[in-house]
Amino acid sequence: MSAVSQPLRDASPLPTEASFPLSAPAPTTPEPIPATTLSSPVVLDVRDLKTYFFTYDGVVLALDGVSFKVRRGETLGLVGETGCGKSVTAFSVTRLIPDPPGRVISGKVLFRGIDLLWGLDAEAKIKINPKTGRAKVRRSFRRIKAGLERMSAVRGRGISMIFQEPTQAMNPVFSVADQISEALILHQGTHLVDEMMSATPDAPEVLPAMEALVDVTRAGGDPDTARRAAAKVAEAVHLPSFGTQSFYLVRDSELSSEDMVRRLQRGLRRTYLSRMERRYLRYRRKRMVIEDELHDLYLSEMREGRVDRRQRRILRGRRTRLRLGGFYYGVWGIRGRIQRPLRDEAFWRTVGRLEEVSIANPVQVAKGYPHELSGGMLQRVMITMALSVEPTILIADEPTTALDVTIQAQILELMRELKTRIGTAILLITHDLAVIAEVADRVCVMYAGQIVETARARDLYTHPLHPYTQGLLASIPNLERPDKKLSSIPGSVPDLIHPPEGCRFHPRCPYAMPVCKEVRPPTTVEGAEHTVACHLYKGTVAVE
Ligand SMILES: Nc1ncnc2c1ncn2[C@@H]1O[C@H](COP(=O)(O)OP(=O)(O)OP(=O)(O)O)[C@@H](O)[C@H]1O
Ligand code: SF4
Ligand SMILES: [Mg+2]
Repeated sequence: MSAVSQPLRDASPLPTEASFPLSAPAPTTPEPIPATTLSSPVVLDVRDLKTYFFTYDGVVLALDGVSFKVRRGETLGLVGETGCGKSVTAFSVTRLIPDPPGRVISGKVLFRGIDLLWGLDAEAKIKINPKTGRAKVRRSFRRIKAGLERMSAVRGRGISMIFQEPTQAMNPVFSVADQISEALILHQGTHLVDEMMSATPDAPEVLPAMEALVDVTRAGGDPDTARRAAAKVAEAVHLPSFGTQSFYLVRDSELSSEDMVRRLQRGLRRTYLSRMERRYLRYRRKRMVIEDELHDLYLSEMREGRVDRRQRRILRGRRTRLRLGGFYYGVWGIRGRIQRPLRDEAFWRTVGRLEEVSIANPVQVAKGYPHELSGGMLQRVMITMALSVEPTILIADEPTTALDVTIQAQILELMRELKTRIGTAILLITHDLAVIAEVADRVCVMYAGQIVETARARDLYTHPLHPYTQGLLASIPNLERPDKKLSSIPGSVPDLIHPPEGCRFHPRCPYAMPVCKEVRPPTTVEGAEHTVACHLYKGTVAVE
């Protein structure tokens, strides 16, 4: 994209305070985007996405040509008023739009170059009657099922999602630990087994570390000292989760010191797999490599849009593996012996993750069921589940809205840590502009199903171009200027069954011109990484 900036009206196209009281606050901590992020590969490329809901009242044009890109290790904020299509964007990308009544009509969602919406045209035939506005949709459920199966390979490790409504992601009949452990084993089973196998139960420093932990706890030492002793045990055995396990076992047990040490040793032995299982796993790992090669082949076939018998066969193989619930050892009768230590390991890792999100009684919470938890706790559990698989891209829909500010800060810190440690790209959806200023590298502003402005976080806060962005910024308090009156944008988000012609913001815009009522403004480039869709600006038309 080339950058040309030529305002249409005069040298200062920004609205004056008299007409649109601007009190755009200075960003709290808008860090400059690191050069590595700007040159990083694009992991999610959404192009011209259109999603409609076919209701009895008419067709809701929920998304109408949404385009954006997210790079590796970047946080892209998506902001806008309620009902402007933020959640629908997230659901469309992950193919979770409830169908019926919803349907992604057109567009591309490229995840690392693979189109996740591939085969969409074949899934349904849609006819809209131009006179009545009524639509007839004929769906092919066989095709829809095939598409969903393909997506299940990408969800989790590839794309993970934190839902706005935590109950949407939790199953009420399974315990919290079961649900998080399942995600862990499904997506990180091999890695987990590898780590368990590299534990060193016989190292000379293991026994003294265990004895020290038991002594500290029995002597009524403070929890921090006990935790430090547990961390030493983990270090000695080379297994981080064993520290968490030891801490809680010793703290909650009534056993004598000697029995306690013996119990810890037994636990460790069980974690450390027997020789026979190791031999088996070595063999299985070879199979895994073969399967991975086949999987790559299948992906390249998909990229080229070819469907042939070989691809179908590979897909079938993959499906069998998925049906086994990720327990790739399941078929061989050895499952019972290896599954127990693996599930234990997943349980203690779950407890460790719950600790990270400041849950006070992580063992009890892990054993509990979703209905026993408060809304904020449930949200934190769900965040744990989404983060535990260390995804390539994390879509977080209002992740912290239900949480108080201290927990919110911890969650944002966890997300930031994931981003720097493994380069997770984050699509952060929120209407809290303060959160966006805190964590986003770039921001997309959405209005009525369209993206109206995209810019680096700092640029958006200091030089908002679109009148809607200016209105949003003017409506948040500025601590530096307490005398300033807050203003709100008049009116509300339009009915998306009959959205306004031309620019969808024109009924609320103080700068609306005749052209705005007729012609949809093109998206133009107005600076480095800064695009806007408004007739006030006349930069180069952006090529999506
Ligand atoms: N199942 C549905 N049936 C009909 N219309 C729907 C459905 N789901 C969403 N919509 C419409 O899509 C539009 C966008 O909704 P969406 O939930 O994406 O808003 P949002 O930006 O996430 O708002 P909020 O900030 O409140 O979460 C709304 O106009 C809504 O009415
Ligand atoms: S294009 Fe839309 S936002 Fe821009 S001046 Fe016209 S009505 Fe306002
Ligand atoms: Mg929403």
